[in-house]
Amino acid sequence: MNVVAFTSRKGGSGKSTLAAHLSVYADTPDVPALLIDTDPQGSLAFWHELRQAETPVLVQCEARELEDVIAAAKRDGVQWVFIDTPPHNTQDIAAAMRVADLAVIPLRPAVFDIAAVAKTLEMSRALNKPELPVINSAPPKRGTFEIGVVTEARQALSDLEVTPWQGQITQRAGFAHALASGQAVHEFEPESPAAKEVQELWQAVRRAVEKGNKK
Ligand SMILES: Nc1ncnc2c1ncn2[C@@H]1O[C@H](COP(=O)(O)OP(=O)(O)OP(=O)(O)O)[C@@H](O)[C@H]1O
Ligand SMILES: [Mg+2]
Repeated sequence: MNVVAFTSRKGGSGKSTLAAHLSVYADTPDVPALLIDTDPQGSLAFWHELRQAETPVLVQCEARELEDVIAAAKRDGVQWVFIDTPPHNTQDIAAAMRVADLAVIPLRPAVFDIAAVAKTLEMSRALNKPELPVINSAPPKRGTFEIGVVTEARQALSDLEVTPWQGQITQRAGFAHALASGQAVHEFEPESPAAKEVQELWQAVRRAVEKGNKK
């Protein structure tokens, strides 16, 4: 079983958005995924209520219950678990990191988000967890060229000695529309650029987890 935690010490960076999307990608009838919402805000639980489909299954729990919830999922044959976390409760973030194989750290390409990544990295490094920063809500590329703020964010991450995902998730209205209807962008607009970006992210997350598992 593979466990991915979405963590960031900054609110609104895209944790819930990316957790929802990757859980929909990972979930298949043969390889069920589980989405765990440990954020008292309950954003994902709200999204799941709007969702017509029953899957992926969502569980709301407190971070201290994670080990038990994950052990039960393992017994049920779940292969991918995605944990959403709150931004400000360091104990809860650490609890999610502890049970995870990979900490995905979403960030907007902006100075305050980068400062928050530094704090989040302190935690993942203290717990010896592989980490994958993901640039989210980025300005659209010009053709194949990324915008200056995105390149600057990559440089700032490189100064923190971490390599972010090479792609970006662009700021697009499709994400808000999809989530508001209980869907993921590739269900809402299957051929859209947003759907393509999320699919690429899913492949990168799979690779990162597999690489971590081999170590
Ligand atoms: N790539 C994107 N394009 C457009 N809107 C986005 C994108 N990513 C996130 N959003 C929107 O930004 C808001 C914040 O995103 P989200 O709730 O996923 O962040 P979060 O890190 O979970 O926040 P919190 O820390 O409050 O839990 C949401 O309204 C979401 O729909
Ligand atoms: Mg959230």
